[in-house]
Amino acid sequence: MNVAIVGAGGMGKAWTEALENSALASVVGFVDPLVGTDSLPAWLSQRRGAPMFRSISELAGQPVEAVVVTAPSPAHFDAVRSALGHGFHVLVEKPFTTTMREAEQLVGLAEAGGHTLMVNQNYRFFPGVQKLRALVARQELGAVRAVDGRFRCDWPGKPYQHDMRHPMALEMAIHHFDLIRAVFDAEPETGHVREWNSQRSPYREGGGIEALFEMRSESASFPFLYSGSLLSGAPRTPWGGLWHVEFDGGTLAVEVIDGKYGLFSAQSDGYELISDFAGETMMLAESFQHFVESVQGASQPWPSGRDNLGTLRMALEFICLQPSLPAGDGAAQRVGQ
Ligand SMILES: NC(=O)c1ccc[n+]([C@@H]2O[C@H](COP(=O)([O-])OP(=O)(O)OC[C@H]3O[C@@H](n4cnc5c(N)ncnc54)[C@H](O)[C@@H]3O)[C@@H](O)[C@H]2O)c1
Repeated sequence: MNVAIVGAGGMGKAWTEALENSALASVVGFVDPLVGTDSLPAWLSQRRGAPMFRSISELAGQPVEAVVVTAPSPAHFDAVRSALGHGFHVLVEKPFTTTMREAEQLVGLAEAGGHTLMVNQNYRFFPGVQKLRALVARQELGAVRAVDGRFRCDWPGKPYQHDMRHPMALEMAIHHFDLIRAVFDAEPETGHVREWNSQRSPYREGGGIEALFEMRSESASFPFLYSGSLLSGAPRTPWGGLWHVEFDGGTLAVEVIDGKYGLFSAQSDGYELISDFAGETMMLAESFQHFVESVQGASQPWPSGRDNLGTLRMALEFICLQPSLPAGDGAAQRVGQ
């Protein structure tokens, strides 16, 4: 499949390297507004071969079938809309968009035009996530009763992340919320996401969140408690987070034990390793394979833009502001997006 990379930063480079090692893709172009300027990232300015453009509209007439959108999150909406408008299939990095309204509009555009629209939720392809999903599907430990997840790091943030709304929820928790939806085939019935920030935060808001959802799948209803921080002074967790899952028949944990980041069976006397949790790579090749199969087989990708509305909803629709001015205003105010 002939692919153009839209956004030549860190993820643009990672996707380019992944696709160049894939028999399924040819990278035939790059788009970045920095093309032609001194600020173009060195990894791209030193490249020869595929042509470079400043906007997606310049891809018209090029032999491009699909684009991988690796622009900053707030630019996803315009980039995906433009790509769909030019008739390209789209694989867009998480978060799909930064508002629900934008995401719904893009889903409608893709479906009306008959184009594949997939969101890269690469954590779904981690070996430990696949293993956990299979255990749950086979009901090996009975019904799930409670899920607890935490993630923390001291992330300096990129300039666009400093300025965007809901950076912890949209940039990091989106991975973890999607992971829980995928593992348990569950959706939130209710939720409360409380953002917080600290005085030393480089973010304008929401460098941390505490959240509680009531999740429902076909077979179970369970609370999902989550804590995530880009502002922690404590030792960081792995990107995939740390987890405890309580089932009727036992407890599973995702922990770092003796230096091993794995999925473990937890007993009162210790932990028994089941599998690695994260992969050795970012799992971009696995995600791309789903994309290609979806385009070629006219099937829904995993996850499609429509599926991903559920994940975006967890990051955006349950955010509550703490009671604030004016005093006595009472209940938490829902901000919606
Ligand atoms: N899936 C993952 O594990 C993962 C990891 C990191 C980042 N991401 C996501 O990837 C995206 C990019 O992150 P990054 O770290 O590479 O950012 P970055 O800031 O390193 O790079 C963004 C690039 O996009 C370019 N750009 C800006 N506006 C553009 C536009 N309208 N069209 C095309 N290009 C544009 C910038 O000039 C820059 O080169 C974000 O949405 C981020 O959330 C995903």
